[in-house]
Formats: sequence, structure tokens, C-alpha cells
Amino acid sequence: MAEERFFLTGALGCLGSWVVKNLVDEGIPTTVFDLGGNPHRLKLIMSDDDLAKVTFINGDVTDLNVVETAIRDSGATHIIHLAALQVPFCKADPMLGARVNVVGTVNMFESAKRLGIKKIVYASSIAVYGAPSEYPEGLVKHDAPLHPLNHYGVYKRANEGTASIYWQDDGVSSIGLRPYTIYGPGRDQGLTSTPTKAMLAAAAGIPYHISYGGYNGFQYTDDVAKIFIQAARAAYEGAGVYNLRGSVAHVSEVVEAIKAAEPGAQITFEAKPLALPDGFEDVELVKAIGAVPETPLKEGVAMTIAQFKQALAAGKVTTDNL
Ligand SMILES: NC(=O)c1ccc[n+]([C@@H]2O[C@H](COP(=O)([O-])OP(=O)(O)OC[C@H]3O[C@@H](n4cnc5c(N)ncnc54)[C@H](O)[C@@H]3O)[C@@H](O)[C@H]2O)c1
Repeated sequence: MAEERFFLTGALGCLGSWVVKNLVDEGIPTTVFDLGGNPHRLKLIMSDDDLAKVTFINGDVTDLNVVETAIRDSGATHIIHLAALQVPFCKADPMLGARVNVVGTVNMFESAKRLGIKKIVYASSIAVYGAPSEYPEGLVKHDAPLHPLNHYGVYKRANEGTASIYWQDDGVSSIGLRPYTIYGPGRDQGLTSTPTKAMLAAAAGIPYHISYGGYNGFQYTDDVAKIFIQAARAAYEGAGVYNLRGSVAHVSEVVEAIKAAEPGAQITFEAKPLALPDGFEDVELVKAIGAVPETPLKEGVAMTIAQFKQALAAGKVTTDNL
């Protein structure tokens, strides 16, 4: 079998950084494609020596020629597409959001088609679903109706449609994964980043108020990164889209986990929940790619706080963004 070579977009982001870390830890040649901003999330979790093993390409996913050339030059055998603008950024600039999240994803699939690459793994989101009142009690099932309530969710839904048409017309397979709330070092922006910001505040010994309440599926960044890599390696044909589950828990349980790891932490939360269902089933994901890693919430929160303490001491993270 040919040696694996991974090509990853959005690799300077939270999830991307953890995918890069896992691949480098495994010794896999990895090319990362991102706008070329500050690699602070990568530096938070990787040594300079390990970062030197990664090939960096500064580029914009909205430019088809740049994307296609970068993928060709990388000799990619596996593609993970994460580059996107999150909910608040799509709301602030829907035109840019559509260019990056919709056109950018079409560019990835078109490049794969032109280059004869057989499969892409990409990030969708549980934002493709609707308000909690639209679904029966309990965890939302894989095939529940989609009804996105913001531009970001509409764009992610479009990605899922794009993926299915590239499979139907051109035989490019894909697995789309829908995370809920990713937490852990590097999660410093986006609608659901405030639980992680509370962990950073606790590590720094300062009070923090989480911006929402209710139930969420919380998933540790490293688990999500490993699931994306596992999906990329899965022998799979088709255009499947799967929910990620994580630990379905109330924000109060996150606060308890923070206080268990850091007694004396002054963390509170807003009572109002997000306009999203409490949690999602991942039964179909496991059928498609096998059992997935699942760090218990309490353990993931404790690890995150410990990692933040080390990073604060080393000057690799600040509390300026809280
Ligand atoms: N974080 C979550 O809880 C969550 C939940 C659901 C889905 N997702 C999805 O997972 C993926 C990764 O999320 P994240 O939290 O790591 O996001 P992030 O915001 O931390 O990182 C996104 C990365 O995309 C890059 N990017 C933006 N525009 C680009 C462009 N035009 N060209 C190239 N790169 C560009 C950014 O520079 C950044 O490094 C995204 O697609 C996101 O929508 C995340």
C-alpha cells in the first residue's frame, strides 16, 4: 500500500491543530493549508521540533487553482477539510461566509475530482439541525430532519449536498462529520467556545461567566481529531454524513468538572440554553467507521485545565481573549 500523506485545510484552527499533532505523533507526512495567520494553537500543543516536520502552505480555499495545485504538489492520499468561518463570523459577513464555507468546499471536491482522489473527510456541524422543539425527546437520530437556523448551518447543509452530488456524478466519496461542542486547548473562538474559556480562566485563577446553559454534546478536541483521522482511513464508499455525540451533559456538569479539577474556581453560567437539541446519537457513525474514542467529560476538563496551566506558565497562552 502507498505511504499515507495527509492534506489538511484549516489546520491553524482548534481542531486542525489537534489533527496535525496526532498525525505528526504517528510520523505521517502532513501538508497543512491555511490562510497563514499566527500558528499559536499549534504552538500551544506541539514542540517546535515537531512543527518543523509539517509542510505549511499559505493559501485561501476560495481559490480553486491554488487549492488544486497545493493538493497535487502535496501528493495527498488522504484529505481532511476543516477550513471554515464559524457562526459569529458568518453572521457578521454572510458573503464571505458563503465564499469560504460553500465555495471553499466545492473547490475541495472539484480538486479531488480533477486529481483522481477518491475520498474527502470534511467538517459539517450539528448546526444543520433545527430548534429542540422540532425533535422528539432524547438524543436526535442520524436521519432527523434538517432545519438550520443560521447562515453557518445553511452553508454546512450545502456542503453535505455538494458532497452527495460529487459522489453521484463523479464518484468522489466523502464522510461529513457533525461535531457539537468541541472543547480543549485551542478552542478560543466561536459560539460554543465559552466552556473552554472558563477552563482557561480557572487555570489562570480568574472568574468567568459561560455564555449559555442547558445540555450540549461536549467532546474533547483530541477525540474529535482522532475521529476525523479514523474516518479518513476508513474503507468507505458513498457520501455519508454522521453526528458526533461526545458527552451529553448540562453546562452545570462542566462547571462541576472545572471545580473538581480546580477547587475554588469561580465559574458561573447563563441559564438560557442554545437554540439546539440537547444531544445527538452517533450510532451510524460507529457502524460506518467503528468504535470511536470517548474521553469522559470530567477527565477531558481536568486535562484541559492542566494543559492550560502549563501553557500559561510557558507564556504560550494568555487570558486577553476571555
Ligand atoms: N469547534 C466546534 O465546536 C465545531 C463544531 C461543529 C463544527 N465545527 C467545524 O469544524 C471545523 C474546524 O473547527 P475549528 O473549531 O477548528 O475552527 P477554527 O475557527 O478554530 O479554525 C478554522 C480555520 O480555518 C481557517 N480558514 C478560514 N478561512 C480560510 C480560507 N479562506 N482558506 C483557508 N483557511 C481558512 C482559519 O484560518 C482557521 O485556522 C470547521 O469547519 C467548523 O465549522 C467546529
